Amino acid sequence: MRVFLETERLLLRQFTDADVDHLFALYDDPEVMRYLNGGEPADRAEIENHDLPAFLGYYERFPGYGFWAAIEKTSGDFLGWFHFRPLRGHHTDDPELGYRLNRSSWGNGYATEGSLALLEKGFTEFGARRIWAATMAVNRGSRRVMEKIGMRHVRTYHEHFDNPIPGTEEGEVEYAITLTEWLARPSPASR
Ligand SMILES: CC(C)(COP(=O)(O)OP(=O)(O)OC[C@H]1O[C@@H](n2cnc3c(N)ncnc32)[C@H](O)[C@@H]1OP(=O)(O)O)[C@@H](O)C(=O)NCCC(=O)NCCS
Repeated sequence: MRVFLETERLLLRQFTDADVDHLFALYDDPEVMRYLNGGEPADRAEIENHDLPAFLGYYERFPGYGFWAAIEKTSGDFLGWFHFRPLRGHHTDDPELGYRLNRSSWGNGYATEGSLALLEKGFTEFGARRIWAATMAVNRGSRRVMEKIGMRHVRTYHEHFDNPIPGTEEGEVEYAITLTEWLARPSPASR
């Protein structure tokens, strides 16, 4: 099992078949899933037979990109995941960043810490020219992370959903940071 990167407090490692219960606990929390599916109960079989195999498949298709399990270094606890990969139809130099963390870990800066490390890796090692992220407009916490890592709001757009969840009417937002913007970012001391 490969460790992808390490930050001050986190290890991002590859998923394994043994992570089904970690994912189930994460996806079965309605607050975690509020802006993803409206807080539906998780389906363990779906995770085991679809979600996790898809994660494992990414490591084959895109070396360096994928879904990474976030582990708190001091406790060894599974906190959730970050994804960092080109979305279908996008070039590999235009990856999407995303994150989903256990509720008990929120508010400690973990999403920001992991995301900043992924931006650095993407821009310095993987040849990314732009890194972007998207969420529901009403997902204030996720938008705040995007702002804190130096992304800017690119657009607000509306998608059609057959079963829209509360907040869909406000639309979706896309944020991004380009390589040029990242290189010109303020140094940590002046942030
Ligand atoms: C979004 C998420 C990853 C943030 O993780 P986190 O580790 O708590 O993030 P951080 O601590 O790095 O930063 C969160 C920031 O958002 C702010 N925030 C959180 N909820 C907020 C809200 N409802 N309104 C406004 N700001 C909010 C926090 O105060 C913090 O900003 P600050 O440092 O300026 O105070 C986490 O809440 C999560 O996993 N949510 C469920 C899954 C999800 O929605 N993922 C994104 C979908 S695309």
